[in-house]
Amino acid sequence: MWKDDITREIEKRRLKIRKDEDLFETVEEVFDTRTLMALYKIINKGIISEMRGVVKSGKESRVYWAKDKNDNDLAVKIYLTSSMEFRKGIFQYIQGDPRFKVVKDYRKIIYTWAQKEFKNLQIAYDAEVSVPRPIYVYENILVMEFIGEDGVPAPLLRDLPTLNIELFNQIIESIKKLYNKAKLVHADLSEYNIMVNNNKIYIIDFGQAVTLEHPMSYEFLLRDIRNIVRFFRKSGIEVPDDEAILKWIKEA
Ligand SMILES: Nc1ncnc2c1ncn2[C@@H]1O[C@H](COP(=O)(O)OP(=O)(O)O)[C@@H](O)[C@H]1O
Ligand SMILES: [Mg+2]
Repeated sequence: MWKDDITREIEKRRLKIRKDEDLFETVEEVFDTRTLMALYKIINKGIISEMRGVVKSGKESRVYWAKDKNDNDLAVKIYLTSSMEFRKGIFQYIQGDPRFKVVKDYRKIIYTWAQKEFKNLQIAYDAEVSVPRPIYVYENILVMEFIGEDGVPAPLLRDLPTLNIELFNQIIESIKKLYNKAKLVHADLSEYNIMVNNNKIYIIDFGQAVTLEHPMSYEFLLRDIRNIVRFFRKSGIEVPDDEAILKWIKEA
């Protein structure tokens, strides 16, 4: 009996070791031990069963294609705790703030950022705004629905060969729902943070989104609208003025 147990245990460890090797291969050396441990935890919890490849590698984060145990595609956004860009960006906010005496705390701030993105996604998703379904967040790792097919992410709005007014309408309606129902303003909306899958738009990248109480929420809303209007006009699509759209969005 005990022999079987030991054999099983060895087998289990072998499996684990093999898995770890795969993981290391997939996630490369950009991540520190702490991040890898967090990833193991999420895998052991059964949220992720397999890490596949990198989808997009940015200065502040990397997005991976992964699988859950039912073979569904997942997107795993991992914030880089070592990112200098991020540290510099964050430093502006914590500099001179007596609550952050130790700059080492940036790791915790990045965790907070990931939690914030998850929470914003959840609020937006619950308000039926078209966003990737949020699944899980832990430390600097955010797991969500994969937008695309077979590990290939859907194109960004900016990469579409042609645009049409229908896409514009979907976006403006999403901004309106986000504002009136979710009570959020995205605050970094542009052709770079909208994915388009089979003619359906998905708004992504909610880390910086703010609630309506934020003193700059109105300016952010206006800027979001302007970005979208500018992008469609540049592509020769006739769209209403910023002011008209703003008025339409604000009437609940
Ligand atoms: N849920 C998702 N499914 C598939 N690809 C995604 C998903 N979320 C993000 N991506 C891809 O990763 C890129 C970066 O994601 P984003 O959230 O915009 O992070 P960043 O902060 O780097 O701009 C996106 O442009 C998109 O190509
Ligand atoms: Mg982005």
